[in-house]
Amino acid sequence: MQIGVIMGGISAEKEVSLLTGKQIIENLDKDKYEVIPIPINSQYELIDSVKCLQFAFIALHGKFGEDGRIQAILESIGVPFSGCGVLASALCMNKNISKKLFVTEGIKTPQWITVKDENKIDYSIIENIGYPLIVKPNSGGSSIGTIKVYSKEELKAGIKEALKYDDEIIIEEYIKGEEITCCILNGEVLPIISINPKSEFFNYSSKYDQDGAEEKIIELPGRLREKVEEISFKCWDTFKLKVYARIDMIIKNEEVYVLEINTLPGMTENSLFPKSAAAYGLNFSQLLDKIIQYSLIE
Ligand SMILES: Nc1ncnc2c1ncn2[C@@H]1O[C@H](COP(=O)(O)OP(=O)(O)OP(=O)(O)O)[C@@H](O)[C@H]1O
Ligand SMILES: [Mg+2]
Repeated sequence: MQIGVIMGGISAEKEVSLLTGKQIIENLDKDKYEVIPIPINSQYELIDSVKCLQFAFIALHGKFGEDGRIQAILESIGVPFSGCGVLASALCMNKNISKKLFVTEGIKTPQWITVKDENKIDYSIIENIGYPLIVKPNSGGSSIGTIKVYSKEELKAGIKEALKYDDEIIIEEYIKGEEITCCILNGEVLPIISINPKSEFFNYSSKYDQDGAEEKIIELPGRLREKVEEISFKCWDTFKLKVYARIDMIIKNEEVYVLEINTLPGMTENSLFPKSAAAYGLNFSQLLDKIIQYSLIE
């Protein structure tokens, strides 16, 4: 089968996407697939480069990659592609809408407000939530534009910074607890990873520097494990996820808070999904085989 690996793109996560793409290209089984790298630099060049493919492996992250637009193009021109469909991708890219759905489904998520204009902020709501707070772009990724703030002055600067990356941002209650991530493959929860960043939260450098964070497979106690699985399945159904996705969570006092769902999780050498799959018994090439196989099921 001929497989194009679409990588690069136009989002702030372009560099990460190129690493994801490189890793996928290296690990796709060349006995099974004819692999064609498809680096893209603008949305306009996409259709011409993909229209003849038998399968598109999407190695993009963020805007125009993870947000449903690429998926809509591929679906419209009849090219099968890896991972979640249009609706799931669009919903999960938008943290505010995702959080509203978490709340509707009874899934805990940190308290939050959204801001579009730095001059129109109700600071009384923010003071009620209390410091520290996390400020992040609504449709971001890789912690780009995300900061932790401890005071109103820092908050104002944080809002300005996050607004560089998105026209809508989120100000969120900071949850101090154990950060975990839950990888799901075709509806099955893979081994859970606990994340201990070396910095004050899981920021860009702790995600991509070789020793930026301690990430290890953990065995949660029975009740908690059940809770995490239950939440993961609920997310899988509610958001119409398919093939693979990664859910970021924080556990505090036995309560599980969901931060967000990634429909195109990083697949670099350092990434969490391949680590979890390896603990499940799938090496990188086998994981890619499974992703392709599950993506081709109607
Ligand atoms: N409410 C919060 N409380 C505590 N830490 C948080 C909170 N929100 C975000 N963080 C920290 O910031 C990191 C990035 O946040 P989040 O996962 O929401 O955004 P992202 O940039 O989309 O991530 P990804 O790279 O997984 O796509 C988290 O992994 C966590 O370390
Ligand atoms: Mg995350």
